[in-house]
Amino acid sequence: VRPSGEDEDDDDDDDDDDARPEATDALTVRIAPSATMSDDLTDSAATRARARRVASRRVDRCARSASALTCATCARARWTVPKFAFDYLDGGADDEKALARASEAFDELEFHPSTCRGVDVADTTTSFMGHRDVECIFPAPTAGHALWSPRLGETASATACARQNRVFSLSTLGTRSPAEVTRETPTLRHKMFQVYVWKDRELMRDVLASAREAGFTSIALTTDLTHFGNRERDLRNGFSVPPKHSLRTALAALAAPRWTAEFLTSKRIKYALLRDLKRDGLLEGSSSIADFATRQFDATFSWEDAEWFRSQWDGPVALKGVLRADDARRARDAGYDAVWVTSHGARQLESAVAPVDALPSIRRALGDEAEIIYDGVMRGVDVVKAIARGATAVGVGKAYLYGLAAGGVRGVERAFDFLTRETKRAMALIGVKNVDELRARGNDVVRERRR
Ligand code: LAC
Repeated sequence: VRPSGEDEDDDDDDDDDDARPEATDALTVRIAPSATMSDDLTDSAATRARARRVASRRVDRCARSASALTCATCARARWTVPKFAFDYLDGGADDEKALARASEAFDELEFHPSTCRGVDVADTTTSFMGHRDVECIFPAPTAGHALWSPRLGETASATACARQNRVFSLSTLGTRSPAEVTRETPTLRHKMFQVYVWKDRELMRDVLASAREAGFTSIALTTDLTHFGNRERDLRNGFSVPPKHSLRTALAALAAPRWTAEFLTSKRIKYALLRDLKRDGLLEGSSSIADFATRQFDATFSWEDAEWFRSQWDGPVALKGVLRADDARRARDAGYDAVWVTSHGARQLESAVAPVDALPSIRRALGDEAEIIYDGVMRGVDVVKAIARGATAVGVGKAYLYGLAAGGVRGVERAFDFLTRETKRAMALIGVKNVDELRARGNDVVRERRR
C-alpha cells in the first residue's frame, strides 16, 4: 500500500475497469479529478506537504477533541476498512480547516458548575420531531453504510438504535432502502428520513412516499448539498460507490482482509432507494459524485421551494443546514418544525463557521420552545455544551461511524454508550438533572473561556 500523498498515479485504473464489467454498473460513481485538480495533485512536493499538514491536524484533533475510546475506535476503523472507505468517513472539505475548527470551537467553551446540587444519574432523554422520550444523542443521517459494514449496512446502526431508544435517521443515499431497514429491524420505533433537494420533484415525491410506506415519521431536508464539497482525500483515493475495481482499490482491500471477505460475500453496495425506485439510470454518465450532485441536485433551491417541500409531508420536517439566525427564522416561518444546525460534517464549505458558535444566536432568534437539532460532536462534553447553547437533540456522524467500521452493531452500541456515559457524567458534575434543565440554565453553566 502506497503511503498517502504518493498514490496520484491513475494509470492502473482504466485497465482494470475494462477487466471488471461491474465498474461500469449504473450505480458506479467515480470521483474523477478535474484537470486542474490532477495538475495540483501531481505536484508531489506540494501534495506531500499538504498531506503532512492535514495528517498532523488530524492527530491533533483526535488527541484534543476525541475520547480515548473514540481515538481507539478510529484507529481500529482505520485498520479494519480500506483506506478509501475510511477517508470518505473521516474527511472534510479542502484543507479540512472547518473540520478542525468545528471541534476547536468546543475547546473555547468551559463549564461553570454548581456544587451541592447532587445528581445521581442525569436523564439524557429528550423529545424532538415527534419522537417522544428518546435519547438526545442519535446518528445523523449519513450515506453508504455498507462501505463500512458490507454485510449489514444501515441495518447495523438501526439495530443499535432500536436497542438503545435512539432515533435512527436514514439517508436517501443509504445502502439500505427505507423498506429494507423496516423489514430488517422490526423493533426500531423512531425512524427519521433524510432527503436531498433533487431537481426532479417527482423523484422527491417518490422518495417521500417510500419513506412513508416504510413507517418513517419525520423528515430532514438537506439544503447544504446543492453543490458537492471539495473532498480531496476522496479525489486522491479515486473513491466511488460501489468501490471501483482497480489496482488501487484492490491494494487497499488487501490491507483490510476482514472487510474484503465480508464485501465479497455480501450483496453489491448500491444506493438502495434509487435501485428500488428504478432510478439507477440517474448515475449513468456521471464521472464523479460531484458531477452526479451537479446534475441531480437543485443548486437553485430557494425559500419558495422550501415552502413547497414543507407541504409535501404530513408530519414533522427539519430544515437541515442552517448556520444563521435569519435563516432559522425563515425556516420557522416556512412551517418547518425544527432547524438543524450543521456544517455537514465540515465536508461541504471550507472555513464555514463552527456550528456550535452559530447556536446561541439561532436559539435567541427562535426562542426557548423551538426545536433545534445540532450535529458535529466527538465527545460527551461536546454534547453537553451544544445542549447548553440551545440544542434540543444532538446528531453524531464520524464518532459513531468509526464504531460501525470497527465493529458493526456492537461497535455502534459502544460508541453511543461511551458518548452517553460521558454526557451523563458531565451533566451530573455540573449539577443538572436532565436535558431541559441543562438547556434552561444555558449560559449559566457553559460560557466562553475567560483568560
Ligand atoms: C456526503 C453526502 C452524500 O456528505 O451527504 O457524502
